[in-house]
Amino acid sequence: MEANGTPQSPAGDWRSYERMLLPPIQDLHKLDVYTKHGGYERLRRVLEDDDVAPDDITNEVKASGLTGRGGAGFPTGVKWTFMPEPDDRPRFLGVNGDESEPGTFKDRQVMEYNPHLMFEGILLAGYAMHIDTAYVYTRGEYTDWIALMAEQLENAYEAGYVGEDILGSDFSMDIVLHKGAGAYICGEETSLMESLEGKRGYPRYKPPFPAQKGIFSCPTTINNVETLAHVPLIVQEGGDAYSTIGAEDMPGAALYGMSGHVKQPGVYEYPTGMLLSDLIYDVCGGMARGEDLKAVVPGGSSVPPIRADQIDGLSMNDESLGEVGSRTGTFCPLVLDEETDMVSFTRRVAHFYQDETCGQCTPCREGTGWLENILARIDEGEGRMRDIDLILELCDNMDGGRTICAFADGAVGPIRAAVKRFRDEFEAKCEASVYPVSTDVSAGPDSAVAATE
Ligand SMILES: Cc1cc2nc3c(=O)[nH]c(=O)nc-3n(C[C@H](O)[C@H](O)[C@H](O)COP(=O)(O)O)c2cc1C
Repeated sequence: MEANGTPQSPAGDWRSYERMLLPPIQDLHKLDVYTKHGGYERLRRVLEDDDVAPDDITNEVKASGLTGRGGAGFPTGVKWTFMPEPDDRPRFLGVNGDESEPGTFKDRQVMEYNPHLMFEGILLAGYAMHIDTAYVYTRGEYTDWIALMAEQLENAYEAGYVGEDILGSDFSMDIVLHKGAGAYICGEETSLMESLEGKRGYPRYKPPFPAQKGIFSCPTTINNVETLAHVPLIVQEGGDAYSTIGAEDMPGAALYGMSGHVKQPGVYEYPTGMLLSDLIYDVCGGMARGEDLKAVVPGGSSVPPIRADQIDGLSMNDESLGEVGSRTGTFCPLVLDEETDMVSFTRRVAHFYQDETCGQCTPCREGTGWLENILARIDEGEGRMRDIDLILELCDNMDGGRTICAFADGAVGPIRAAVKRFRDEFEAKCEASVYPVSTDVSAGPDSAVAATE
């Protein structure tokens, strides 16, 4: 807390922050504009300076403390060190632009406004990890931005920034654009690799991890679009300097995708560690409908919602959000006002996961369907009081390592938290239900039904 009682923001003096990922430069997506503003200079310096070894880039990224912006928040530099020593196998970088999580729409801005920054980040990552090919796996619905990236990539090839002997060096790398076909599960890294190989997008068991056996069974690193866009900035500023921006536990800039009931939703670039209250009331101009705040889902639909009375002093970094059992996820807060029916909201979230489960693992395939069914009957005034604990019991049987990938955890986390934190709303709907109210779970499934007969 500051002396005047206002909570101190780990984002520091965010009002004077100058955008680096999405700077306000007209037509920055064009190669000539990008290069005019220093674009590809970081790559040139690295390739021309004989003293810069691949490991030096990895060490800078490690020093920066950059954490992945795809949702899991894993330290990027550390992940890069998992790649084995080069051998005669090809090596791949999977660039995750699938961006299919409800409420998450920030990678699109990089693709639309600064695609060369992403390409430069890909090339620097490729140099650091001795990688020859990057696949940019993009959400298929992003048709316009895929076309834009394809045009700009062609320009970068023609100018010698991508391809054989880049900028006259002995470093060569190809970048291939790949269009997804509208499945959320293909954003999960092992599923993405299956899909790239032309197979059904089923997640793989880990281990082996992608670094050991990834795309086409070769060493692979998967990184999010935004994560890679930070890399040229880290090389430019130096890892140590970059680590001083934003929150200590996950430093750097972040693209905050603000949506929901705020006056000015959109993607805003600020340091990590922004206070949720600053984002909602200062950056986004407050609540859109004049209603009070009810809840915030801080980082895409897969993270637990927070109640309004919990947000005081909370900031967008995992250390802070962890105190109330939530996470930064994709750094895309969804803001809900008092008019929001939390049962309907939770039902809608459950529907998404039911619709998108790949069906490979039984707890996820069956569990997501039952969660939606039970939430639907409560929402429609046909729930029984014991359904509330039934939801929680179901959640406990789905997550925590019961499935191959983290999809089930992402489905269950927000539903469990919504039920626990807004239980009064679920109870109110059950109390008003057409069925008799029974709070006795131990009475077994038939007793309440029998009572209605
Ligand atoms: C169901 C599911 C969907 C995911 N979707 C995405 C996605 O669209 N984009 C993304 O970058 N990461 C997504 N992830 C996380 C990836 O598996 C992976 O952690 C990430 O791409 C790694 O990049 P990063 O370390 O740079 O964040 C998803 C994970 C799961 C479980």
